[in-house]
Amino acid sequence: MDHFNYNENEMYCEGVRFDDLIAEVGTPAYVYSKATLKRHCLRITEAFSKYPTTACFAVKANSNLSILSDIFSYGLGADLVSLGELKRAQLAGADPQKIVFSGVGKKPEEIKAALQAGILSFNVESDYELKLISKIANEENKVADICLRINPNINAKTHPKIATGLYSTKFGLTEEATESLLEIVKTDRNINLVGLACHIGSQITDLTPLRDAARRMSEICLRVMEKGHKLTFVNMGGGLGIRYRNESPPDLQDYADTIIEEIKPTGLNLVIEPGRVIAGNMGVLVTKVLGVKKTPEKYFVIVDAAMNDLSRPSVYDAYHEILPVHKRQSESINCDVVGPICETGDYLGKDRQMNLPNQNDLMVIRSCGAYGATMSSNYNSRPRSVEVLVDGKNFRIIRQREKLESLWQSELEALK
Ligand code: LLP
Repeated sequence: MDHFNYNENEMYCEGVRFDDLIAEVGTPAYVYSKATLKRHCLRITEAFSKYPTTACFAVKANSNLSILSDIFSYGLGADLVSLGELKRAQLAGADPQKIVFSGVGKKPEEIKAALQAGILSFNVESDYELKLISKIANEENKVADICLRINPNINAKTHPKIATGLYSTKFGLTEEATESLLEIVKTDRNINLVGLACHIGSQITDLTPLRDAARRMSEICLRVMEKGHKLTFVNMGGGLGIRYRNESPPDLQDYADTIIEEIKPTGLNLVIEPGRVIAGNMGVLVTKVLGVKKTPEKYFVIVDAAMNDLSRPSVYDAYHEILPVHKRQSESINCDVVGPICETGDYLGKDRQMNLPNQNDLMVIRSCGAYGATMSSNYNSRPRSVEVLVDGKNFRIIRQREKLESLWQSELEALK
């Protein structure tokens, strides 16, 4: 459920007319619904409420400071993968003891800053990383709390570019590698093993691989504890899918119940790293129709948003529903909705059936709250879009549209 609905053929976000909002901020614009965000945060907390669980929002899904600040205020923590994300989490007021640091390639300065921040744990993915963390912890006179991230070799049955649980990917440690790191951990005074972690992929719409991963992790945790390691929690990562089109992702409560059932025998606390399920459907990208053109093969609806604003269709062939702000009575056409970027791959929707729009009509591209703005770029020297947060009948800009001059600011010096 979200708060983007038609009222008499005109789409609103909560109590705000898109026409009014866009008149003030222009297009393209990312528009987020605070009520939807709050609902998703509370639902996830509630779904896991019967088991000691810390939900760490995957900041890569949406890293806007105001969005993060709201998410943290609802009691969630943060899952990070870079120094930039750590700084954002700190600025937005994250509780350091609810921060986990993931990623296959952490740099020394990132490890140092996270140690100084006093985070809950590093998810360690290789032997060289463990050595590096130990060295930096030693220099800093600290003990680093870590989890070993296991690659359980489970097929998440999602798009290959976002599947992370197979040995064919760069992520995590095999069980063998884990065994040898466990030996190192035992004697390293700068390392404190607090748990085991895994994350098998993103936009997972089948509960089975998630259950399999939890079962495998539960077995491994029990084995590791039998060997005398004192674990505190198991981190099951993120990955729960959302509905973009006709997917039927697992119900949040079923997902929670399944994970809890598998993990319970360990007696360990649970950490999860949800991203998309929290932010995906709280946001849309609003764009304006620049014009319509027809080739011998099809119609092209050319809009002012492009693959630099929303790259998911181009990168993953992802489907995002596209709806008019004003429903109109006109000829029904089959069309591609495309941006102004000079690439055939620059499209937002392919083979869509819709009513022929007029120039300057507004369109809403749905489910863009996760991996939308965070994956945007300046390709074709296009400034990044404004981001707006709607709260009831009010809205406010939470990220200014990038100024053109800022695109070349850091290059001017070299011209002199
Ligand atoms: N934890 C780790 C270690 C991750 O790598 C990710 C996502 C998450 C948690 C959050 O997963 P989620 O709950 O959002 O599925 N750009 C792609 C998605 C990449 C996901 C990368 N890792 C997309 O637009 O579909």
